[in-house]
Amino acid sequence: MKTTTGYSGIQIALHWLIAVLIAVAWFTGEGAGDAMEIVEEGGVAGFVPHVAIGLAILALVVVRVLVRLGRGAPAAPGQPGSMSVVAADWGHRLLYLLMIAVPLGGVSTWFLGLDVGELHELAANILMIVALGHAAMAIFHQYVLKDGLLRRMMRAE
Ligand code: HEM
Ligand code: HEM
Repeated sequence: MKTTTGYSGIQIALHWLIAVLIAVAWFTGEGAGDAMEIVEEGGVAGFVPHVAIGLAILALVVVRVLVRLGRGAPAAPGQPGSMSVVAADWGHRLLYLLMIAVPLGGVSTWFLGLDVGELHELAANILMIVALGHAAMAIFHQYVLKDGLLRRMMRAE
C-alpha cells in the first residue's frame, strides 16, 4: 500500500461525510424495520429514508476505497510494526470491512428478501462500537498524547 504524507481533500471530505451518514443511518434503522413489517404483511412501504441513506453510504464507501487503493494513506503514527501501529492499521481495515458489509446486509434484506435483518442490525451495532472506539483513540492522540493526529483528518496534504 502506498504511503503518503497526508490525506487528500477528497479523502477527508469522504471520511466526515460518511461518518455523519453512518450515524444518521444508525438512528433511522428502526423506520426500515417498520417498513419491512409493512411489506411482509403485503403493504407498500413507499420512501424509506434509511434505505436511501444506506445506499448513499455504500456508493460513497466504494469511491472511498478506490481512492484509498489509488492514492494510499499516511502511515499510522509510531514505530513501524509496534503494537499501536498494528492496532491502528487493523482497526481501520475492520472499519472498512464493516462499512461495506453492513450496507450489503441491508441490501440483502431489503432488495433480495434474505432473512439477514438481525445480522444486519448486529453488524451495524458492532460498526458503531468500533467507530466510537476509533473516535476515542483519535481524541486520546489529540488531547493526551498531543501529537496533532486530528489535524491529519482536517487539513489536506
Ligand atoms: C462512523 C464513524 C467513522 C468511521 C467509519 C471512520 C473510519 C475511519 C477510517 C477507515 C480511517 C482510516 C483511513 C485510512 O487510512 O484510509 C479513519 C481515519 C481517521 N479518523 Fe475516522 N471514522 C469515523 C469517525 C471518526 C471520528 C468521530 C473521529 C474524530 C473524533 C475520527 C478521526 C479520525 C482520524 C484523526 C483519522 C486519521 C488517523 C490517522 O491519520 O492514522 N474518525 N477513520
Ligand atoms: C452503514 C449503513 C447502515 C447502517 C449503520 C444501518 C443500521 C441499521 C440498524 C441499526 C438497523 C436496526 C434498527 C432497529 O430495528 O432498531 C437497521 C435495520 C434495517 N436496515 Fe440498515 N443500516 C445501514 C444500511 C442499510 C442499507 C444500505 C439498507 C438497504 C438497502 C438497509 C436496510 C435495512 C432494513 C430493511 C432494516 C430492517 C431489518 C429488519 O427489521 O429485519 N440498511 N439498519
